[in-house]
Amino acid sequence: MATPPAMTLADAAATEALGARLATLVRGGDAIALVGELGAGKTTFVHGLVRALGGGDVHSPTFSLVHEYPTGRLVVWHADLYRIARAAELPELGLDEVIGDPRGIVVVEWADRFAVLPADHLRVELRHAAGDQRELVATGTGPRGRELATTLDPAAAGKLG
Ligand SMILES: Nc1ncnc2c1ncn2[C@@H]1O[C@H](COP(=O)(O)OP(=O)(O)OP(=O)(O)O)[C@@H](O)[C@H]1O
Ligand SMILES: [Mg+2]
Repeated sequence: MATPPAMTLADAAATEALGARLATLVRGGDAIALVGELGAGKTTFVHGLVRALGGGDVHSPTFSLVHEYPTGRLVVWHADLYRIARAAELPELGLDEVIGDPRGIVVVEWADRFAVLPADHLRVELRHAAGDQRELVATGTGPRGRELATTLDPAAAGKLG
């Protein structure tokens, strides 16, 4: 499959806006991997997503918790694997209890560190770009993930529509 084009995010508001766009596309049981170096904008993206779903402010989850954001429509379970050193520490996160739960979606920062998500998920990769901008590449690792990746890109959605 050809590499999808990167979307340029000029500032943090643009990163939040794309997270908000994803909020219009997700349904219960969806899983989202957020990948990218320190400060790439992963939490900012989650903030836009949670806010658009009607939830409150987002904080970086501590290593021992999955933060649960009750929103109007869907619960958002938000985890960060950055400080997880060994796979043996994963069970205490409790991710297995919420993955696939139709009442909400699971969003995991640093999801490339450990394979905690189901085989079919949306992978959102963020990276630093020219100036202080960011680039985002969305890919799907299965049919549902690909559907989300395709519709997340406003340009691609326009071509489909
Ligand atoms: N598109 C953007 N352009 C410029 N700055 C941005 C952009 N998106 C986010 N930022 C800023 O980058 C900083 C880091 O963002 P954020 O905390 O979301 O990164 P992160 O990937 O979650 O980092 P970490 O790996 O530490 O969890 C914040 O100050 C945020 O406002
Ligand atoms: Mg973060």
